[in-house]
Amino acid sequence: MKFFLDTADIDEIRKYSDTGLVDGVTTNPSLMAKAGRPFQEIVAEICELVNGPVSVEVTATIYEEILQQANRLAELAENIVIKVPLTMDGLKACHTLSGSGIMVNVTLCFSPAQALLAAKSGATFVSPFVGRLDDIGHSGMELIHTIREIYDQYPDIHTAILAASIRSPEHVVDAARFGADVVTLPPKVLQQLYNHPLTTQGLEQFLSDWEKSGLELG
Ligand code: E4P
Repeated sequence: MKFFLDTADIDEIRKYSDTGLVDGVTTNPSLMAKAGRPFQEIVAEICELVNGPVSVEVTATIYEEILQQANRLAELAENIVIKVPLTMDGLKACHTLSGSGIMVNVTLCFSPAQALLAAKSGATFVSPFVGRLDDIGHSGMELIHTIREIYDQYPDIHTAILAASIRSPEHVVDAARFGADVVTLPPKVLQQLYNHPLTTQGLEQFLSDWEKSGLELG
């Protein structure tokens, strides 16, 4: 399973890219607004730092305007993935862009039926939002599971399932269990994946015993 980082914060991207664990980045208009810097500058920096797909979302909602924005974005870097909303215009744009060889991430997916439409529109990635479904009392993970089952019925579907709106390490593990191709992690969740109290406790014990022994490593 690939790990993408779900942020537009360049310092966080730099920090975690150095771990060798980051296969790509996803952004959205809210994350871009939070970064508080000129849009094109952030996009260019992220695309240079990351050796993998970088999803950048259009803000237009009408087919022709989505295409205009997408074509301008696609010129910024080779690893740009155009993120379009799961609407009729968004999916029509997905079909057109995919047909001309541009990678597309269909975002704001909340149902298996929508995921089926994204695949039929030629999406490179579909982004089911796990946390936001949990927030309204539905099971976000059940959606990942169902999309996997559906996509696996059809060998001609090549759309990757990108588990988004991830809130906890449990979400990451469950996304892996259910066969998501990619999980996009807020930096905080990636940090949490490292942590286990027994690792911390065990390391303290080993180092303390070593210190007391007077031994030297070499
Ligand atoms: C990424 O592609 C999504 O935009 C993001 O994961 C949404 O996460 P949120 O529901 O925590 O805002």
